[in-house]
Amino acid sequence: MRKAPSYETQELREFAEVLRGRRTIDQFLQTPVPDQLVSGAMEAATWAPNHYVSEPWHFILPGEEAIGRIIDLCAEIVSARKGAELAGHKRKAWSEKPGWLIVTCPFTRDDALREKEDYAACCAAVQNFMLYLWKAGVGSKWTTGPITRDARFFDVIGVDAEKYFVVGMLWFGYPKVTPTQSRAAVDDVTTKLP
Ligand SMILES: Cc1cc2nc3c(=O)[nH]c(=O)nc-3n(C[C@H](O)[C@H](O)[C@H](O)COP(=O)(O)O)c2cc1C
Repeated sequence: MRKAPSYETQELREFAEVLRGRRTIDQFLQTPVPDQLVSGAMEAATWAPNHYVSEPWHFILPGEEAIGRIIDLCAEIVSARKGAELAGHKRKAWSEKPGWLIVTCPFTRDDALREKEDYAACCAAVQNFMLYLWKAGVGSKWTTGPITRDARFFDVIGVDAEKYFVVGMLWFGYPKVTPTQSRAAVDDVTTKLP
């Protein structure tokens, strides 16, 4: 008789620990993340499920100059809304982000369902990216702050804001501080039907 498949393997426990243990990281060490690791994470991202295999994601890796322009824009936005002091804090904090990735998704104006599904696929791709890095000891933060909807941001990243929206800007690097988190028990968010 064939042995029943085991769901109590060490491998599965370790995999679950990667899923469970990943945290949003805000403070990073200044150690650079190897380019090859980032490429691997991006390649893994493209294996996310995507309806009709639409592969809707597009990745933008800003270089030093573009990052500088993003930081300048951030400071400008924060300064206008909340004053120069906070803008200075933001400038410093953003200057300490070791790795940057921007993920975009196309609008599908005449097909709301298609757009929703493409966005879902892009989100799954972002999660693949973050989990791959986490397994390698690299943390990340997914941000959708106001800058990611600002027309000037689209100019900096060279994206047509009429055709694409930003799914997220991701920062990544080796964690300096790893926060704790909690989740509701899965039974509390589950309905079992007879
Ligand atoms: C679509 C999306 C957008 C997010 N945007 C932000 C953001 O703008 N700022 C922020 O601090 N965290 C942002 N986060 C991260 C969440 O705050 C974080 O996932 C949450 O606090 C749970 O923490 P964990 O990722 O460590 O489990 C975002 C997460 C997602 C999925």
